[in-house]
Amino acid sequence: MIALRTEREIEILRQANQIVAEVLVTLADQIAPGVTTAELDVEGERLIREMGGTPSFLGYRGYPNATCISVEEVVVHGIPGRRRLAKGQLVSIDVGVFYKGYHGDAALTVACGEVDKTRKKLMLATDRALSAGIRASRAGNYLQDVSRAIQETAEGAGFSVVRVFVGHGIGTEMHEDPQVPNCVTGDRGPKLKSGMVLALEPMVNAGTDEVRVLSDEWTAVTRDGKPSAHFEHSIVVREDKGEILSASPKRIWGRA
Ligand code: MF3
Ligand code: CO
Repeated sequence: MIALRTEREIEILRQANQIVAEVLVTLADQIAPGVTTAELDVEGERLIREMGGTPSFLGYRGYPNATCISVEEVVVHGIPGRRRLAKGQLVSIDVGVFYKGYHGDAALTVACGEVDKTRKKLMLATDRALSAGIRASRAGNYLQDVSRAIQETAEGAGFSVVRVFVGHGIGTEMHEDPQVPNCVTGDRGPKLKSGMVLALEPMVNAGTDEVRVLSDEWTAVTRDGKPSAHFEHSIVVREDKGEILSASPKRIWGRA
């Protein structure tokens, strides 16, 4: 069952996602060589609570932190720790916030200092794949149209989409129906309706799409060790395209 949210609910979802966006852009500005991922997480959790939210990720299926910080070959679910960022790396930040009964969820990837051409291209392609998915998130389209738009954009740039992790519905639970694959599967999926709220989150790899999860049972890395990028927005399906709930006026991602 896919929930259809009222405008009143969407307003609260927007507030939750605006906290997410503010945390993301603040942490993105702190990405620099020498900073540890744990330092970013501590600041992220402090900001979430300061704005009246609770970290959605903390304690979710035993996840130990408020944020996921995924460096280079880490695709998603990087557990913050003592790893120090270095110039030339890609750093993905993923934040979830629970506020007034609703969840917000978004992510972005930023460069630590100067990065090479492949990494720049990978970031841009992943961001554009998210934008394409948002444009396809209009009433009357099938969910598969969203997945196809994401996949074609990422693969058209010469990269591969991760298949084992998906986007999701979001609302009073962080993960609701439907699952949102980043590639076409056999099923065209449900028809989209205005008021459905989805978290679209393409994960795109420079090399193979294959990933493996480390013994901490969270950290997902590329099998070939090549870099990966991840951009996510929570959006509401509208008649013409998805409306972004987690947009920040300070940094633009996922916008066409
Ligand atoms: N954005 C990710 C998701 O929607 C982050 C979840 S991290 C977790 O699945 F720790 F909460 F699982
Ligand atoms: Co998500």
